[in-house]
Amino acid sequence: MCGIIGIVGKQEVAPLLVKSLTRLEYRGYDSCGVATLNSTGIEVRKDVGPVAEVACCRELASASGEVGIAHTRWATHGGVSRENSHPHMSCDRAFAVVHNGIISNHHILRAELQRRGHIFSSQTDTEVFAHLLEETYQTGGAVEEAFIKALHRLEGTFAIAMISSHEPKRLFCAREKSPLILGITPEASFVGSDVNAFSAYTRKAIVLDNGEYAVLSLTGYKVRGIADGKLRDKRATEIDWDVGSAEKAGYRHFMAKEIWEQPEVIKRAMEVPQQEIASLARLIRESRRKILTGVGTTYYVALFGQYLLATLAGEFAPALSSDEAGKLAPMDPESLILAISQSGETFDTLQVLRQARTAGAQTAAIVNVPGSSMTREARLVILQQSGPEICVVSTKATMAQMVLLVRLVAEISRLKRHASATQPLKIFKELTRLSELITVVLRTQQEHIRHLALRYHHQHNWFFLGRGIYTPIAFESALKMKEVTYLHAEGMPAGFLKHGTLSLIDEETPCVFLIPPKEEKELYDLTLSSVEEVRARKGKVIAFSFDETCGNYDEVVLLPKASLWTAPFLHLLAGQLLAYETAVALGRNVDRPRSLAKSVTVS
Ligand code: AGP
Repeated sequence: MCGIIGIVGKQEVAPLLVKSLTRLEYRGYDSCGVATLNSTGIEVRKDVGPVAEVACCRELASASGEVGIAHTRWATHGGVSRENSHPHMSCDRAFAVVHNGIISNHHILRAELQRRGHIFSSQTDTEVFAHLLEETYQTGGAVEEAFIKALHRLEGTFAIAMISSHEPKRLFCAREKSPLILGITPEASFVGSDVNAFSAYTRKAIVLDNGEYAVLSLTGYKVRGIADGKLRDKRATEIDWDVGSAEKAGYRHFMAKEIWEQPEVIKRAMEVPQQEIASLARLIRESRRKILTGVGTTYYVALFGQYLLATLAGEFAPALSSDEAGKLAPMDPESLILAISQSGETFDTLQVLRQARTAGAQTAAIVNVPGSSMTREARLVILQQSGPEICVVSTKATMAQMVLLVRLVAEISRLKRHASATQPLKIFKELTRLSELITVVLRTQQEHIRHLALRYHHQHNWFFLGRGIYTPIAFESALKMKEVTYLHAEGMPAGFLKHGTLSLIDEETPCVFLIPPKEEKELYDLTLSSVEEVRARKGKVIAFSFDETCGNYDEVVLLPKASLWTAPFLHLLAGQLLAYETAVALGRNVDRPRSLAKSVTVS
């Protein structure tokens, strides 16, 4: 949550700060601002609104200085207002700070500081740090010392960047449980919340670990421990990240672009080395208990994995939403926790991994963002190689994670000789056709789905219904609809409907049914009986179906013939497109829906 960028350069940094803010905007977008250091001191420009708007009305790019920090906010403490936007300053205006995370003892610190005469201009937890710096500096010593002393007073989670007019050529930053990455080039030194902040300039990155701080200058960086002050030997690693993916490339929205990128993203997931999949498969086999976890969309991906493991590999591996997993999952040396995350930074999921590690459990993760916290926290990591996902709602990363899970489960079933010897090979072959099938749906159905969206976008309550392995896809399709349209949408196992929810069905309720291919006879028949239950109550049935002729539907999105292993992917795509087109029909802010942020790095 919240995006941070800081630069020490050889020339004016404000234009670069603004560019980076644009690339970080998906982390939070209710307000933004920059602080630069120049001969007159620290200059802060900030306001409420998207980066483009604030950059224009507050002329962010023309702030003067060769050292600066900037921030794009997702409000936690204090409402959305100019005062609460970052950067925040000390009373003497000698320190400016930007922060991501939550300073949990901010109430105590604020009261203390106010008693000593500090005047606060915001309701944020962050501002206490600026005032603390002013005080610790007054006790004597250099800015670095003041920085460490002030950090020692903080409790909670933080990624902080700070500049001070007492040290005009340096930038200070620190990390405790919120991500922070350094990037060094001959022209400038960078600190960012993630690689997108500076990937246009360098792909060499140094990831700060928890409890570390860094001092950046034009000649490079020094990293030390916050607690012991000891120098840490941190080397830069090459981050494989497709910068081009962070541009809209002619599409109206990133969401559309990322949906259309899925054929390519699937190919990349298929190219993830089999060795990596096999190592994870062995780890799963060897562990007595295995738990899959993620949250929001990635919880649904985990649920998809649970169905796959049960049906294809005969393994019971429950999926738990990471916000609750810590209370439910047995964490001991006989357990394996497999975390799934696009960002690799989601607080709840990270916490589960940390808890698992502390308890001596095995840990593994499927992650998209290289260098993210989960890639450092989990023992075994598979990078899904989907490239930057900029739209706040996840689409392409989800699909890649599902591909990796099918590959993983095919490998487990091979190891266990659970399936016939040829089945894993067959699944692999089917997956290699998946990109083609996705392209067919994109080309043949988007227009039709747009018309459906235009017909139904005024409906306020939607249901997405599926059975068996289609259940998590129904959940995910409903989540997509909620996120981008702000309409109420519920995903549900179709069999569950008659146990209460049927009371909500009337002629005003679109029910989207994920109809399995006919070959899955049992699931198919059961799903059709749920369709009848809805029709008997005059509900509108929109079917995502492989077969136009069967069933009693009001609308059909016709999907090309698919196998048992590829069908759920096509349903997911249809769900993504329906959500997208409905949001466009409603004129919603598709890439940055209200109240959301791409990675939720707070508890
Ligand atoms: C997805 O569209 C959502 N924005 C959200 O549910 C997301 O999947 C969740 O916060 C987990 O994020 P992660 O994959 O980065 O861990």
